Amino acid sequence: MAIRFIDQIDIKGKRVLGRFDFNVPLKDGEIQDDSRILAALDTIKYILDNGGRLIACSHLGKPKGKRVDELSLKPVARRLKELLGKDVKMADDCIGDQVLSMSNELKDGEILLLENLRYYKGETENDPEFSKELAKLADVYVNDAFGVVHRKHASVVGICDYVDVVCGGFLIKKEVEYLNNYLAKPEHPFVLIAGGAKVSTKLGLLNNLLDKLDTILIGGAMANTFRKAQGYPIGSSIYEEDLLDEALKIINKAKEKGVAFYLPVDYVMGKDINDQVPLGVFPYQNVDSDGKIFDTGPATHTLYSEVLKEAKTVVWNGPMGAFENPTFSQGSFGIAQSVAAVSGTTIVGGGDTDNLIHKCKLQDKITFISTGGGSFLEFLEGKQLPGLKALGLYD
Ligand code: 3PG
Repeated sequence: MAIRFIDQIDIKGKRVLGRFDFNVPLKDGEIQDDSRILAALDTIKYILDNGGRLIACSHLGKPKGKRVDELSLKPVARRLKELLGKDVKMADDCIGDQVLSMSNELKDGEILLLENLRYYKGETENDPEFSKELAKLADVYVNDAFGVVHRKHASVVGICDYVDVVCGGFLIKKEVEYLNNYLAKPEHPFVLIAGGAKVSTKLGLLNNLLDKLDTILIGGAMANTFRKAQGYPIGSSIYEEDLLDEALKIINKAKEKGVAFYLPVDYVMGKDINDQVPLGVFPYQNVDSDGKIFDTGPATHTLYSEVLKEAKTVVWNGPMGAFENPTFSQGSFGIAQSVAAVSGTTIVGGGDTDNLIHKCKLQDKITFISTGGGSFLEFLEGKQLPGLKALGLYD
């Protein structure tokens, strides 16, 4: 790992531009889950306590190059102020003369938060001119936004060409170390739980980990594609028509490599995802032909829990069903309990799975919850991530 980290850099009296992932869920201007802000605190406090002048920046949502007031980072400034117990200055923009003078006026140990980077197209287009504007604010650049290291964006990649000193923060360090260490030499049995809607988003993950895994447990709507490919009925549930062949290939590859491959053996079905009363529980061979699969059933839970009892390493991404609706939440909640009870190492990633664990209040029972969604998946796919490359991880 050739990355330098923030504690290897002299930051006293320097303007430190910190890229964080403050992409938090908001409702009516209120932050619904501040985990990502909490995850950045170690780096933020380190910079402030060591006399750095922190200029913090982030994206929030997808404003697509326009100013969208609902996606302002002001709520994040308020939350940071509460968490740090000190003033957090808020800029009205992320580049420009006014922001530059605000950054120059900062004193040691003070913090300024910039407005949403994605108010400019230059951010997502990795525009060199936008990168240069950001670089004017920085003597030192620190990236602690693991959630965006898979994005080739100006504040993640381009900026590294224009700032002399670039480094990673403590969150990036923790994510990279955990994911690398546990996945390089996982303790066996090593179980992957893959859920969520689409096989297409998990192909890379399944193919990359297949050589290391002992068992794969499939849930969520992606299971429908596998079952359909095997010729079983799925009622009028969603599935990916163009992935049927690929799904069979994965099942066969797993068989060849001696990886146990489990699909749900029963489902909770409904007519609509918002149903308050389900149609019932159906075995996989005999489903309601008009109904839709919205959750795994109790027999699947029993089966998967038995497998998990033996596991020494578990990686989990993607819920078992439409858990936002209590009618269809039992499969996901059940698996969350079973993962929490595993005595080995448990690694969870992805926005939905992270929400689910917090909903069940099981976050303290999981070895490591990645703050990454797409970046977590791409890391596990074995890809080189542009944001980590820009910091020198692969040198
Ligand atoms: C995330 O929510 O996974 C990160 O903040 C990245 O956001 P993005 O998918 O909008 O780039």
